[in-house]
Amino acid sequence: MKRIAVFTSGGDAPGMNAAIRAVVRMAMYHKVEIFGIQYGYRGMIQGDIIPLQSRSVSNIIQRGGTILRTARSEEFMMYEGREKAFNALQQNGIEGLIGIGGDGTFKGLSKFMEEFPVNVVGVPGTIDNDLYGTDYTIGFDTAVNTALGTIDKIRDTAAAHERLFYVEVMGRDAGFIAVDVGIASGAEYIVIPETETNIDDLREMLRHYRKDKSSAIIIVAEGDEEGNAFEIADKVKDAAGYDYRISVIGHVQRGGSPSALDRCLASRLGAAAVEKLIEGKTGIMVGEINWKINEIPLEETWKKHKRVQPHLLELARILSL
Ligand code: F6P
Repeated sequence: MKRIAVFTSGGDAPGMNAAIRAVVRMAMYHKVEIFGIQYGYRGMIQGDIIPLQSRSVSNIIQRGGTILRTARSEEFMMYEGREKAFNALQQNGIEGLIGIGGDGTFKGLSKFMEEFPVNVVGVPGTIDNDLYGTDYTIGFDTAVNTALGTIDKIRDTAAAHERLFYVEVMGRDAGFIAVDVGIASGAEYIVIPETETNIDDLREMLRHYRKDKSSAIIIVAEGDEEGNAFEIADKVKDAAGYDYRISVIGHVQRGGSPSALDRCLASRLGAAAVEKLIEGKTGIMVGEINWKINEIPLEETWKKHKRVQPHLLELARILSL
């Protein structure tokens, strides 16, 4: 393996830059030439490929976003797009690819390696934490802390006005952010897509809290099957007499300086991805289970489902009584 390339794709996540830095520096350490593909699969198709050196990744470990930029590419979903991408890699002599992203990125990589002779390794980078084969994805810890900081502020105003707040956090298909943020903020109720939301139960809990809690917080994962925070508030209706407001935290969860946990995880996984490629591994994602590097076939990362632990919801409920 003489020349490899790294790219970021899909939703950005804090810590992606730390992962890029680790990939570049570990590749240089092993005397492998390293290139960066800009704008994810779109840039791969367009041959937007630049050489990277050690100093190209100076001063980025603390920055959110991704210096390589990212995109969601429709064209790469078609065979013709993937063929163009393969030709661009060939023209640049790229033998191995490291893709940092979530399930969409890995589905693309999997398809790509089925059709073309490319060596690929995935690094889990998404705030959603919804990839099987790793305890944590890069960006999750920072996103949880960002949401938490906001909810702590919402608690102040909720307490001052004696209000109920529905707070919507990100997680289209997954409730990992909602559960951790819910426990850490001491929320009164958490709704997530993985479990059936019972509006009657929520009403009942609100009636219970209303007896002696002057304010309350309900965390709603955006992808809940009963709807987003506005829709759920509509279904609950009078909220047991609480004056209520709705707050959507949104994309602020994707930005900001990565936490120490995310920087360290990104450093370990970026470095491991390079080592796996050099060892001749392909078609895998590198993750961590119980602090140990784990490799898993790319397809399993989305075909198998990492489950939110139901006992955590129960814990949140007990601790809010
Ligand atoms: O997958 C990461 C994520 O932030 C999800 O939590 C969210 O639903 C989605 O991306 C938002 O995507 P976009 O930035 O394209 O609106």
